[in-house]
Amino acid sequence: MKRTPEPELMDGAEQARAYAQADLSEPNELFLRLLADEVLKVRDSALPQGLADARALDLGCGPADIVVRLLKRYPQLQCDALDGSQAMLDLARQAIDRLPGIASRVRLLCDKLPSAQLDTGAYDLILSNSLLHHLHEPQVLWRSIRAAAKPGALVLVMDLMRPGSAGMAEALVETYAADAPPVLRQDFRNSLHAAFEPAEVEEQLRSAGLAEALEVDVVSDRHLAVWGKVGRKFEV
Ligand SMILES: C[S@@+](CC[C@H](N)C(=O)[O-])C[C@H]1O[C@@H](n2cnc3c(N)ncnc32)[C@H](O)[C@@H]1O
Repeated sequence: MKRTPEPELMDGAEQARAYAQADLSEPNELFLRLLADEVLKVRDSALPQGLADARALDLGCGPADIVVRLLKRYPQLQCDALDGSQAMLDLARQAIDRLPGIASRVRLLCDKLPSAQLDTGAYDLILSNSLLHHLHEPQVLWRSIRAAAKPGALVLVMDLMRPGSAGMAEALVETYAADAPPVLRQDFRNSLHAAFEPAEVEEQLRSAGLAEALEVDVVSDRHLAVWGKVGRKFEV
């Protein structure tokens, strides 16, 4: 099936609210499990046990559900969380302000990638879930990761992968969003049509000079993940 891009930012208040209210615990816990079981075990990682004093970055953080889960699990981690949608960041702020042990460890940044607000060569851990398929120019993500990573930084990017046909996409909508509000069903359908295939992501990594550092794996019936260690300082 041919890719159909969708709008980059989710900046409508109603769309952002519906997304924030959706139960994404299953994919978000998959993300955290991949981080713990695969990414943090990457060979020769210099990151401290429990990520003590490490700096993380979440690109396209949305309402920050993953950021909150991450910071609950790793109580000494600091995280910058960037999104181009102020509506999403308002919801992220509300979620984070309810959790005092977390609020002081998060910096929310409202900006569209590529962003001059991100520190260069500064982050130990770079994360992104469900952003890649929104991008009209996917190299923006890979260039941003290269620029923001400290030498030796660990990376985990997870996203939907594009099914082979519109019928397969529809079957996934029925399986995973049967009872969801119409706005979310349409978002999920659009996202499946906008997502990349694993081979396309591998090609993106080759173009970005990241194919040696990062690997692409299929991690569920609808998700792919890209992970590894960015081993040296990159020229950007
Ligand atoms: C599907 S949501 C994912 C949110 C969150 N990461 C999660 O897993 O629930 C994608 C987010 O990426 C943001 N986004 C899309 N394109 C962006 C860009 N070029 N720069 C910054 N944020 C972007 C959208 O505004 C939206 O909040």
